Order: sequence, then C-alpha cells, then structure tokens
Amino acid sequence: MSFKDLVIKNRSYRGFDETVKITRQQLEELVDCARLAPAAQNIQPLKYYLSCDSEINGIIQPLTRWAGALPDHNLPYEGHRPTAFIVICFDKTIGGEEPAKFMKDVGICAQTIMLAAAYQDINGCMIGAFSAEKVTQALSLPSHLHPVLILALGKGDEDIKIVEVQNGATKYYRDQNDTHYVPKRSLAEELIN
Ligand SMILES: Cc1cc2nc3c(=O)[nH]c(=O)nc-3n(C[C@H](O)[C@H](O)[C@H](O)COP(=O)(O)O)c2cc1C
Repeated sequence: MSFKDLVIKNRSYRGFDETVKITRQQLEELVDCARLAPAAQNIQPLKYYLSCDSEINGIIQPLTRWAGALPDHNLPYEGHRPTAFIVICFDKTIGGEEPAKFMKDVGICAQTIMLAAAYQDINGCMIGAFSAEKVTQALSLPSHLHPVLILALGKGDEDIKIVEVQNGATKYYRDQNDTHYVPKRSLAEELIN
C-alpha cells in the first residue's frame, strides 16, 4: 500500500465489528510507534492508558461523545462499539502545569497511532469530546495525569467515502444506507501559492 493510500484508508470510524478483539500487545505496538514521534524540546510528556477489556471499555464508552454533526444517529450503534481505547494523558510531573504547550505533540502522537493502526487494519476515531475530570475519576488516574485525547479503536464496519467540499460545506453527513461522507477541501483551495 502506498503511504497516500494509507492516509486515505485512515478515516474516522464510528462503527465497529465487536467480534474482532484488539489485544494488549497490538495496543502496545501502536504506542511503541507514537513514542518515536517528534516531540517539542524532546520532553515527551505523554502517557497512554490502554484498554482492550470489555468491562473497562464499558466504563470509557459512555464518557465519550461521538459525531456531534449527526445528533440523531447516536453513534456508535449498540453492538458496534470500539473494542479498545487508548487514553492519551499529559503527565504534569514531566511537562509542568501548561498542557496547552504540548497539544501539537498530542496531535502528532495520535495521528502516528491512527496511521499505525490503519496499516494493521485497525480503525478508529479520535475523541476530544469528553470530560477529563470524569475520565480521571472513572479510571482512577493519579492526579498528575491529565487525559487530553481518547482514541477509540476496533475493526471498522462502516462504509466511508471522501468527497470534495462544495460551497464551503465541511460537515460530514450520511445517506439512507448509512454510508458516511467526509468532505475534504481540494488541493487547489488549500495551497497558498
Ligand atoms: C483532535 C480531534 C478530535 C476529535 N474529536 C472527535 C469527537 O469527540 N467525536 C467524534 O465523533 N469525532 C471526533 N473527531 C473526528 C473528526 O470528526 C473527523 O476527523 C472529521 O469528521 C473528518 O473525518 P476523517 O477523520 O475521516 O477525515 C476528532 C478529530 C480530531 C482530529
């Protein structure tokens, strides 16, 4: 697969085949890629909480909010939930009291994980919509770890298509067959010069 095909394959999935389990070892391999990513000042303040356990997944899932643009869909549907989660946390004992300074690191590490996952036929969705306080409490995280992004993972069972943005409309949408359309701006629109 070309690198560009991998990037195209790496869509945000909000439905999964729950019969396909993700192992702890698979999750560790993903984080093993993220830990090699570039890091601001090479400080590396991110830590990763892994779950491939259905009981813990059941604690994390209700704390995550999905597809704000499709409020009537209630995604992911019951029986199609992620089979693993990676909660990316900012470690204050390493990075200090200013997590905002390291949010670019979070994006880089998250995308590294998602691309590594897609390469192994694991799909997922980055979830920024959650209460850090509630996640900290639910997972009994120590106070120096601040959850900054959740990665939901599993074997995607959705049909997702990239379409070109028309008239500035960037909202993703679904048709009656539940095919998910994700509009992307054209290269010409994004190039400055
Ligand atoms: C930082 C970040 C946070 C996101 N948070 C959420 C979220 O809370 N819930 C959700 O359903 N999708 C979330 N997404 C997924 C975006 O909605 C998705 O990337 C966008 O619709 C484009 O689709 P694509 O990833 O297939 O290109 C997030 C994506 C990013 C990069």
